[in-house]
Amino acid sequence: MPFSVTTPIYYVNSDPHLGHAYTTVAADVLARHHRQRGEEVFFLTGTDEHGAKVARAAEEAGLTPKEFCDQVSARFRDLVAKLNATNDYFIRTTDPEHEARVQDFLVRLREAGHLYEDTYAGLYCTGCEQFYAESDLEQPGNICPLHKTPVEWLEEENTFFRLSAFTGKLLELYDRDPEYVAPRTRYNEARSQIEAGLNDLSVSRASVSWGVPLPWKPDQTIYVWVDALLNYHTALEYGTGEDVAAKFWPSTHLLGKDILRLHCVLWPALLMAAGYEPPRKLFVHGYLTSGDQKMSKSLGNVIDPLQVIADLGADPLRFYVLREVQWGQDGSVTRDGLERRYAGELANDLGNLVSRATAMIVRYRGGLVPEGRCELEPIDAAVSERFDAIDLTGALDVIWGLVRAANRYVEERQPWVLARSQAAADQALLDTTLYTLADAVRSLAVLLHPFIPASAERMLEAVGDPGAVAWERAGLGLLPAGGEVSQPPPLFPRA
Ligand code: MSP
Repeated sequence: MPFSVTTPIYYVNSDPHLGHAYTTVAADVLARHHRQRGEEVFFLTGTDEHGAKVARAAEEAGLTPKEFCDQVSARFRDLVAKLNATNDYFIRTTDPEHEARVQDFLVRLREAGHLYEDTYAGLYCTGCEQFYAESDLEQPGNICPLHKTPVEWLEEENTFFRLSAFTGKLLELYDRDPEYVAPRTRYNEARSQIEAGLNDLSVSRASVSWGVPLPWKPDQTIYVWVDALLNYHTALEYGTGEDVAAKFWPSTHLLGKDILRLHCVLWPALLMAAGYEPPRKLFVHGYLTSGDQKMSKSLGNVIDPLQVIADLGADPLRFYVLREVQWGQDGSVTRDGLERRYAGELANDLGNLVSRATAMIVRYRGGLVPEGRCELEPIDAAVSERFDAIDLTGALDVIWGLVRAANRYVEERQPWVLARSQAAADQALLDTTLYTLADAVRSLAVLLHPFIPASAERMLEAVGDPGAVAWERAGLGLLPAGGEVSQPPPLFPRA
């Protein structure tokens, strides 16, 4: 079955940080895993470029909104490439193809009777591009709980979407699949927001000029969140030059918990209103925190992913964020923590295993994989199960169990002692031991390929099975004897 996965599209009002890299890495891990299962995959990421917040940032930078977006969007795109992410398209909401389709979508909603005109007045946070009820704000001073800045009073004639009419349909959707939104706590949160009753939503703005014009009232722009959410569908329609929506829609969305309501409530309702299928599944992850606060540009506590990649490479970054922080929950990340995992788990546990296994085969068996059978227990079924549950940290936990088992196995078997013995039984045991180690390295490379693709490819080359990343090779005992082994330079060199 085709598989399509998305990240949120990132705001271009500030530079990318590790929090943005996080969702991109997670989506790439899923995309790569589904590809290794032989599925057709569409992986989408991109930038969210309209709205007052971006227009304001452009003004501060002394640029037109478009110039500003071009610059910052390019930085996000560059980060995606440096992360070694395999997205099939990078959407920008300023793509003319996207803008035209957003307008068509609004016309469709209007023709279906889901829109009406009314006056709107309320407290608005430009940072969130969202109206707030006074009770949700910090007092005194009506302070946005996320941005810690005062919200503004906004009053205008707007076009409204009858979101309230979708309460029943949304609940049906949630009833049909108790895993529609994951993890469970987020399902419950979204569901209770729906049960609490939904208000209609203003989908146009008179006060915002940097946006997609409302087709029948072009002095207003379409609410940036409607424009943004639609990217998930429009990209499939034009991103690759042909319309692949019929094949790939509905998609699985990954998102941070701050945008749960817009994705888990508004988005499926918009789609159903326009006669489209709602998303396949939504996975809501937590925050990377730093100093106990969400990492964010406005709080000034960010780790620069480009610096990490320049120092250590993309694989360590990819590994660290998914290993350190339980996927789905919040967790703190630090440069020290990253270096500890790098030294302890990547260089020591994994890197040493690879260099020992290959060095011993070169030394004791002339660099050829001996005949043997693998003595370790395969874990591919357990890892698949974690992937199916989109439990990325869980998948890594299971995989690391095999890394540790293989290291214990070397210590117990002491191949260097066996190698000194001329007894046929010891030499046969050495064959089995070396085969087991090389095969474990190979299987680990397949299992880890979605997480640390470049290192995994080097591991496969080292054990003479280059390029064999298909999931059907994730089990054990599949390494052909006679393959050529070489000892690679350290996979994770120590600084
Ligand atoms: N533009 C909107 C999304 C529109 S999607 C139709 C937006 N952009 S954002 O740049 O502020 O954040 C996008 C996503 O980046 C978050 O949902 C989350 O996936 C990721 N993260 C940004 N900061 C993060 C952390 N500190 N921790 C974890 N993820 C973070 O919201």
